[in-house]
Amino acid sequence: MTPLISKLPNVETNIFTIMSGLAVQENALNLSQGFPNFEVSPRLMDLVNKAMRKGYNQYAPMAGIPELRHIITQKTNTLYQSNYHPDTDITVTSGATQAIFTIIAAFVHPGDEVIVLKPAYDSYEPAIELYGGTTIPVQLSAPDFKVDWEEVRSKISSKTRMLIINTPHNPSGTILSESDMLTLQDLLKDTDIILLSDEVYEHIIFDGQTHQSAAKFSGLRERAFITASFGKTFHTTGWKMGYCLAPKALMDEFKKVHQFNVFCSNHPIQQALAIYLKHPEHYEALPDFYQQKRDFFLSLIKDSRFTFTPAAGTYFQLLNYSAITDEYDVDFAKRLTREHKIASIPVSVFNHKQQDDKVLRFCFAKTEETLEQAAEILNKI
Ligand SMILES: Cc1ncc(COP(=O)(O)O)c(C=O)c1O
Repeated sequence: MTPLISKLPNVETNIFTIMSGLAVQENALNLSQGFPNFEVSPRLMDLVNKAMRKGYNQYAPMAGIPELRHIITQKTNTLYQSNYHPDTDITVTSGATQAIFTIIAAFVHPGDEVIVLKPAYDSYEPAIELYGGTTIPVQLSAPDFKVDWEEVRSKISSKTRMLIINTPHNPSGTILSESDMLTLQDLLKDTDIILLSDEVYEHIIFDGQTHQSAAKFSGLRERAFITASFGKTFHTTGWKMGYCLAPKALMDEFKKVHQFNVFCSNHPIQQALAIYLKHPEHYEALPDFYQQKRDFFLSLIKDSRFTFTPAAGTYFQLLNYSAITDEYDVDFAKRLTREHKIASIPVSVFNHKQQDDKVLRFCFAKTEETLEQAAEILNKI
């Protein structure tokens, strides 16, 4: 055979696989990849089990079961004063990643530009590249990762098809404010740019702040896909269940791809979630639950040589290590895993041209015991 021509020649094994692999090899505490190490609600697991026993083991409807679509749109409309319709404006997906990939597949044409705020979740750019688009990065910087909307404006061209935002933001733990969203709404007015608003951490937000969903702003909602993940909300990242919302005209195009991409998502889990979501307390309790973990972790490492701004949302905390070493963050993260037995994620891998702000990302969706062990290690460095 002649040599293969890769469609993604620059993509290598992603950092989560590398750091989790190293953590296993070195028998290190793994605070790198973002997944909880505590149990899922027994009630939710029972509901999935019951759904399987009741026979919900065959294909679900393509866009998701009506009961789940109904409860999600009702929840969103209540929380964000929106008007999504369960029949036309929602699709249940196999995790947010599948929704993101499908949105990009459905809308990005060869030659299109997509503005991406960096650091960014690493699935956006390969999908853009696969469909012939070009990523136009806007780099944000530690410690506050504030968006310079004038810079964003300067990157808009006649080729701009899409803009991707993410709030609460992985990896920085920052959030977009109401004023950010109003500025963005103004900026996109009179354009045909589609907004992809990745809101997978919508319920993990701290210190009394409220999530500023694109769904709240009519000028954004009319052009937006909002992506969400049950993995983040119900500690079930391994189930890969999520959904996306958008006005009908956009969702119709999405479904054209979705039906050939996965056709539908896990049926028994949809049945279970449709019942479980009837109790808002399950997601309303999340800010307190994770804020306690954040505060516990930060109180334990407050006297360490790492410096930080407490995360405003997500279950990630950035720690700045410039008082310890000026090593490149990837090298330092690997050394910490090998020598000190703690794995984290170096943030430069999410940045444009690997900008190195000397910060590492630690996941605090962990038991108190794990957080104590982590703090003990970090305090000695
Ligand atoms: C910003 C962001 N978007 C999307 C996802 C993917 O969510 P899912 O696991 O539901 O595909 C993640 C997961 O880490 C994320 O951090």
